[in-house]
Amino acid sequence: MAVIGYYNGRFVDPAEGVVPIEERGHEFGDGVYEVIRVYAGRPFLLEWHIERLLNSLSAVRIASPHDALGYKELIQTAIAKSGEREASVYLQVTRGAALRNHLFPEGEIAPAVSLVVRPVTTHPSACVGTLLAQADERWANVYIKTINLLPNILAKQTAHDAGADEALLVRDGYMLEAASSNLWFVRDGALITAPTDRYILPGITRRFVLDLAADLQIPVYEQKLPYTQLARVEGMFLTGTTTEIFPIGEVITHPHCPIEATLPSVAPHPLAVEPEGCTRIWQAANLELVHQLRSAFDARIQQFRNANAASTT
Ligand SMILES: Cc1ncc(COP(=O)(O)O)c(C=O)c1O
Repeated sequence: MAVIGYYNGRFVDPAEGVVPIEERGHEFGDGVYEVIRVYAGRPFLLEWHIERLLNSLSAVRIASPHDALGYKELIQTAIAKSGEREASVYLQVTRGAALRNHLFPEGEIAPAVSLVVRPVTTHPSACVGTLLAQADERWANVYIKTINLLPNILAKQTAHDAGADEALLVRDGYMLEAASSNLWFVRDGALITAPTDRYILPGITRRFVLDLAADLQIPVYEQKLPYTQLARVEGMFLTGTTTEIFPIGEVITHPHCPIEATLPSVAPHPLAVEPEGCTRIWQAANLELVHQLRSAFDARIQQFRNANAASTT
């Protein structure tokens, strides 16, 4: 079992220096990525991940160096080589290496494909998290899974500094998403989550949970929920490939993190927040439905693991 890396046709030690300095992913963040969860040695929802990767590539006008089957084979080979059973696969495709210039390189340059397989552990299902409400300062095409994640990184670090687990990102008065996961609300026995327009990432786990909710006959409204309606929310959770389903117990705010539609023109940088300055503005009243979904999710994963064990014996 080993953490393994891959760069442009070669399996490598992830610590090895293989990326040229003038690689556009390295210099510009000019690329897209996927993270795929591996359970019992098999990639989960792989077709959906590859479909989204191809969509992201076409949105940023990078000609895909592989078709769907090519990515599938690469990922499966990498998992087998690593020998990890419970892992994540990070897969990145950039526009490739060329003389630094904002314009796309002239002529044919080969996109760069890299990958890392590493073991992961799931947080225990009893965990309940906290969100720090913040303005969503990302660009207007967050449906593309770009490697440009600086606003997400800063939002998540600020949440962490405040003692929270994730950011609750508010754009134009609506609670849309977290920094690295999709956001769901429970109200009157139904689920509410933002629609997949350009302002959220169309999460693969979100898509899986939509199917799961339909099977469990839980109504779902794909609607933007105004921040002003937070008090009417009974429960909340996050979804993501490695986050799975993560129940949320409270939302906090900090005076340095305004969420108004129009932010003050003078930026208060560097942004420093501490847990002492935070105020709790919401507390879960009922997480029963969230725990029900989480148990159903865990059962599906167990079925997936068992099916794999059966197919390899
Ligand atoms: C901003 C954002 N939203 C949502 C998600 C969840 O997506 P998925 O379920 O495909 O992992 C991620 C995952 O990285 C993310 O970065």
